[in-house]
Amino acid sequence: MIPHSRPVFDAAFAEALQRPLARGHVTAGKEARALEREAARALGRGAGVAVDSGASALMLALLARGGDPGARRVGIPAYACRALWHATRAAGCEPVCMDCGPDLRLDADKARALASSLDAVIVAHPFGMLEPLAAERWPCPVIEDAAQSAGGRLDGRPVGSFGDVAVVSFYATKPWGGAYGGLVAGDEDEPGGSWLEAIRQMRCADTADAALPHAGNHQLSDVHAALALARLARAGRERAARADLARRYDEWIEETRAEPVPREAEAAHFRYIVRAPDAGETIRALRDRGVDARRPVETPLSRFSGVDCPGAEDAWRHCVSLPLLADMSEEECERMREAMQACL
Ligand SMILES: Cc1ncc(COP(=O)(O)O)c(C=O)c1O
Repeated sequence: MIPHSRPVFDAAFAEALQRPLARGHVTAGKEARALEREAARALGRGAGVAVDSGASALMLALLARGGDPGARRVGIPAYACRALWHATRAAGCEPVCMDCGPDLRLDADKARALASSLDAVIVAHPFGMLEPLAAERWPCPVIEDAAQSAGGRLDGRPVGSFGDVAVVSFYATKPWGGAYGGLVAGDEDEPGGSWLEAIRQMRCADTADAALPHAGNHQLSDVHAALALARLARAGRERAARADLARRYDEWIEETRAEPVPREAEAAHFRYIVRAPDAGETIRALRDRGVDARRPVETPLSRFSGVDCPGAEDAWRHCVSLPLLADMSEEECERMREAMQACL
């Protein structure tokens, strides 16, 4: 089976792991601080705070705003990873689902209509593509979620440089994946900058406010940070390899009934997503041919809140994510071409 994700961990990762081991210091230390600097720089930010997951990063960013979290309505994309739902609820906030259009970006008219009723919004760049509304002014604070699109550029600026703060994930399969981990990045002299210090307090059990429900030991270990640093060092090359492969898929797909969801040249090319007449049937057919295709999102988040989001439901019915591996061999490429032409 050609897997949906296949992060490569070669000798460079083994060497990176030796650094904290040789120092005899595996909890948060030099590696975590270096990752904070490197990742913040790559996101076009002045500072970063490393934590144990992308979901924790989102939750802590929401808690860092202060005030009464229970009273807050937080806009989240309806067609996105379930971590956004969990993080919002873990911060004591009410998730308000924002629908998407056929291109899987937010439906701009609907989002603008909702915006004035929100206390904060998580704007996610979807599946390695770019979300133009990240560059827009919102009437509330914006958490820019770059977990799946880190390394992309929007309007000539790095993804992650737009919101009041940005969040990334270092989960193994992500573009900046090590094993587990996350980061909140911002600029100390901007409004979101004050959140960073609050998150530094909250990620550590000894300094976190005792009244907070989910604070305490959300730090990133040096072992995890070393792995993420090794990925970051090659993320540009991996992105370029996926972009080349995506261009080949574009040619192969022309002879099928499916069409790719449009992506920008400057995107992160994390996933290759196609629209097919029936996603479930297409996924079964591809798996029968040895290709581990997936739904980009298992369940639209709007189903959890009972809100009608027809764009997210349409995406669930039609969208399929194909393996887009940076190290795909020619033999695997040939199998992909045959499977695409037989099943799409
Ligand atoms: C867009 C997005 N944001 C946040 C997360 C959460 O990251 P993590 O898995 O590191 O908790 C994920 C993935 O799970 C994601 O896809």
